Amino acid sequence: MTDFAVHPALEPVTLIGAKLANRLAVAPMTRVSAREDGTPTGAMARYYSAFASGGFGLVITEGTYTDTQYSQGYFFQPGIVTESHVKAWRPIVESIHAGGAYAVMQLMHAGALSQGNRFRTDTAGPSAVPPKGQMMPEYGGSGPWPTPRAMNDDDIETAIQGFVAAALNARRAGFDGVEVHAANGYLLDQFLTNYTNLRCDAYGGSVPNRIRLTSQVVQRIRAEIPDEGFWIGVRLSQTKVNDFQYRWAGSDDARVVFTSLADAGADYLHVASEGRDWIETARLDDGDTITALAKKVTGLPVIANGGMHDMTQAARLLEEGHADVLSLGRGALANPDLPNRVACGQELEIFDHAMLQPRASLDNAGTWRRDTSA
Ligand SMILES: Cc1cc2nc3c(=O)[nH]c(=O)nc-3n(C[C@H](O)[C@H](O)[C@H](O)COP(=O)(O)O)c2cc1C
Repeated sequence: MTDFAVHPALEPVTLIGAKLANRLAVAPMTRVSAREDGTPTGAMARYYSAFASGGFGLVITEGTYTDTQYSQGYFFQPGIVTESHVKAWRPIVESIHAGGAYAVMQLMHAGALSQGNRFRTDTAGPSAVPPKGQMMPEYGGSGPWPTPRAMNDDDIETAIQGFVAAALNARRAGFDGVEVHAANGYLLDQFLTNYTNLRCDAYGGSVPNRIRLTSQVVQRIRAEIPDEGFWIGVRLSQTKVNDFQYRWAGSDDARVVFTSLADAGADYLHVASEGRDWIETARLDDGDTITALAKKVTGLPVIANGGMHDMTQAARLLEEGHADVLSLGRGALANPDLPNRVACGQELEIFDHAMLQPRASLDNAGTWRRDTSA
């Protein structure tokens, strides 16, 4: 399958004081398979532990909602808000650890891109701008997104407090860290994006203002969890689930974003490429790739994402120093044991979108049959 004696992605790497078995991470993937109240299930435990026993060095969970206000994005999305959430995540983390992988929880606030929230019927975002595109049927939505209410200072404070409480809960559940979801068009990315953020206050206008909320989230989590052993990562992207064309203005803006987050106390940056492969979104105007620039200006470990199941591209990316770790979405779904397969030179299964139809839930995923015994 590959020409490598040992694929560079299989080399162990020490990140933020932790020794990962290799440089392969499972990318966060929403599976809308929790109970209605957001409590994760035994089927989710089996789903996640298969990636760890399949050899992935790091497992990042699906986007998990953070509060009982506007954060939930889909019905059957897991939460990290209640004691029952914390209790049910614990065995999932334990099974990931038992498989030899580290476990990070992605914390998500959907903002204007919410299409299923048990707590609210309206949505909120930086400005009252109707989102582009249509709701996603694979997560149970249909039709246009509603126009969000513009968040006031109290709403912003509530959202920040939700992230902080969620991070504390994730630590209590045993996670090694959290990843703040500031990518793919959700709340924090709505603040960063020029056409969804029309604010005239300290959160709108310039790039330093538009990245301010994400930086504050990181700072406030860090203030509550100063322990350097608990990772606070941030996921960023140019493209969005509802806009694959959007790009940042250029490398000057990228520098501001990356340094703001590093200054706020982020431990790693995860640069995603929703709807496009890394190679299509990576080049910035000055010749650096977006991930190499993130590494250069911050000195932080960087995870690159987008089409890394092309193991030849994956090797080149690591060898040329564009990133420290690679995260895989579709490749991991098709091959929960991808690292073990690569180590043995075994062919990889090709991702089939039918796995996510008509819903992206575990009961559609071939071998991942819904298990109601949990
Ligand atoms: C079913 C599915 C669910 C996803 N859910 C999330 C999510 O919860 N959070 C997130 O940041 N990205 C999410 N993504 C995006 C992936 O993390 C990844 O960026 C994307 O699939 C591109 O990587 P790939 O080429 O390895 O698949 C999802 C992707 C898929 C296929």
